[in-house]
Amino acid sequence: MKKKRIGILTSGGDCPGLNATIRGVARAAYEMFDTEIVGIADGFKGLIEGDYRTFEKHEFSGILTRGGTILGTSRQPFSAMRVIGDNNVDKVAAMKANYKRMNLDCLVTLGGNGTHKTANLLAQEGLNIIGLPKTIDNDIYGTDVTFGFHTAVDTATDVIDRIHTTAASHGRCMVVEIMGNNVGWLTLYAGLAGGADVILLPEIPYNMDEVVRKVKERHAAMKTFCILAVAEGAMSQAEARLKKKDRLLRRQQQHFTTISQRVAIELEERLPGMEVRVVIPGHIQRGGSPSAYDRVLATRFGAHAVELINENLFGVTVAMIGNTVDHNPLAEVAGKTKPVPADHQMVTVARRMGINFGA
Ligand code: F6P
Repeated sequence: MKKKRIGILTSGGDCPGLNATIRGVARAAYEMFDTEIVGIADGFKGLIEGDYRTFEKHEFSGILTRGGTILGTSRQPFSAMRVIGDNNVDKVAAMKANYKRMNLDCLVTLGGNGTHKTANLLAQEGLNIIGLPKTIDNDIYGTDVTFGFHTAVDTATDVIDRIHTTAASHGRCMVVEIMGNNVGWLTLYAGLAGGADVILLPEIPYNMDEVVRKVKERHAAMKTFCILAVAEGAMSQAEARLKKKDRLLRRQQQHFTTISQRVAIELEERLPGMEVRVVIPGHIQRGGSPSAYDRVLATRFGAHAVELINENLFGVTVAMIGNTVDHNPLAEVAGKTKPVPADHQMVTVARRMGINFGA
């Protein structure tokens, strides 16, 4: 059988489990065929600029537990892919030319929603593409879970756990801002796992009266502290009526850079005497070694990608569908996201636990 040359890149924001997935692809490929793996640097940037090299088999050893990505990554907005910039580079033509120059049989792209759009574009341009779904946001359409998500849930939960003890000691309201600009899966899971009292998600715009009512209710029940898990993209009901651009502009004018600051200031104004603190773990949630769950998921996803290569099935992305690793056509996934449905079973369960969503 002819040697297979497999290109691989990681694109968009990093997450734990990228290296474990790269390893999963490499191990399965070396096991199944005569293989050469070409690592492309910094995502689609390396594909555009021709920054790549053939890796040695041993370079995929010892990376199962390592956070980040050995290939490097960058954000290359899909909206700019067809735009010829000042440097006169036709990015799509450059990517196709470099794919040819590398003499690839296929290209495996590890990334989130933006990556899937560009992957689909390249598939439509005739390249053999296989996507792999990564993101701590868990918002890729068509897959129950993405690798990186559960490690981030563990990290964010640990933050909430630690905040609990100091909140209780001081009788304070602690506003923990959790990553997720567009969707609230991470906040929902970590909020539930960490026993938050209030969870604010982008998908359920909040009314501050409701949040204040919850804090007062806890006080009346002799619970002097309160934990709020607030998604980075959470918004008030008034803000939800604005376009995203206008919403961000309004926040700038009001001198809030993050939603958690805004919630904290409003709480202090409306609950005289209450001390409120803001905690933003930020990119810590994207860092560190993948959890055991993510290592297993990454390995299964990576191995499945190689099965698809073996079957010459391209233009697809790997997915977990009802506990089985499977795949979806890229064309069906690209451009869609997976928000938290406001009536999701987990939201209902959280409400039964007395958790307030501000609405
Ligand atoms: O998509 C993952 C994510 O971590 C989001 O939750 C967050 O809004 C965004 O990336 C932050 O991106 P950057 O690393 O570019 O600041």
